[in-house]
Amino acid sequence: MSRPHGVGATAVFVAAARALESERADRLFDDVWAGEFVRRSGWQPPSEQLDGDDREVLTTWVAARTRFLDEYVTVAVRSGCRQVVLLGAGLDTRAFRLSWPQPVTVYELDTPDMVEFKSGVLGDAAPGAVARVVVPVDLRENWPAALQDAGFRSDLPTAWILEGLLMYLPDDAVDALMTRVGELSAPGSALGATITDIDVAAALDDSPLFRDSPISREDWLAMLRWNGPADPVAWFDSYGWHATAVPVDDLAERYGRTVPDSARLGRLRPGHRWLVSAERK
Ligand SMILES: C[S@@+](CC[C@H](N)C(=O)[O-])C[C@H]1O[C@@H](n2cnc3c(N)ncnc32)[C@H](O)[C@@H]1O
Repeated sequence: MSRPHGVGATAVFVAAARALESERADRLFDDVWAGEFVRRSGWQPPSEQLDGDDREVLTTWVAARTRFLDEYVTVAVRSGCRQVVLLGAGLDTRAFRLSWPQPVTVYELDTPDMVEFKSGVLGDAAPGAVARVVVPVDLRENWPAALQDAGFRSDLPTAWILEGLLMYLPDDAVDALMTRVGELSAPGSALGATITDIDVAAALDDSPLFRDSPISREDWLAMLRWNGPADPVAWFDSYGWHATAVPVDDLAERYGRTVPDSARLGRLRPGHRWLVSAERK
């Protein structure tokens, strides 16, 4: 089993944040797999080197977005979506974690390496009340054919999740992906996404997080390709979606999480990251 590397290793960082969140008494979700993914990746996050405020900054983003998209996808399924597609699924465990209100098929798309690593850790664990279909693809290529071969139907409403993905794709691949998602979306489809202004990544400076990490800060910055739009609502509208965008700080506050102003990584915070929920027009 190969360990996550390159852009796949970013999913391990997300899992590390979910593992930290899952340890909290006031956790926004409980991801029992997250810690095991990190352990099996071979990386030991230097969480003890991060002070309390910095831990808060790093986990709040992942915790708030995870909880928001958990809620959004659950509502979408309750409202009639019978297919969920996780684009760049990484180490997302929604197929296992969520109490699905209806029978649903969850399609997980990621690179062949990531799919292999995740399967190796999950073993023969069975998801909850869902059918889980794993589709190894490169999302810069023509992935809809593989998705449809796996059983996806474009005549049924779908809930799409694009969490922590778009920033890693080149501009033309983002445009092609959004066009393809639109073409595959029947009336009643829904979409949840994170949008990030990648300039904020430079604010990570010399964070202890990158010490002995599977990705150096330089490599991470090189992997960041697409800068999110200043107006996410208008941008999604141009692809046929009626969207709402909430800045992550507002969302975190809604969940009772405020990040201390004194945090050394505080520059990551203000107004550069949004949670988007959208309905097909
Ligand atoms: C930051 S992780 C987020 C994973 C997951 N959505 C989550 O939030 O837990 C980004 C994921 O996108 C995947 N990814 C990036 N570029 C990709 C591509 N061209 N094709 C397929 N997957 C890709 C990576 O392998 C990784 O799993």
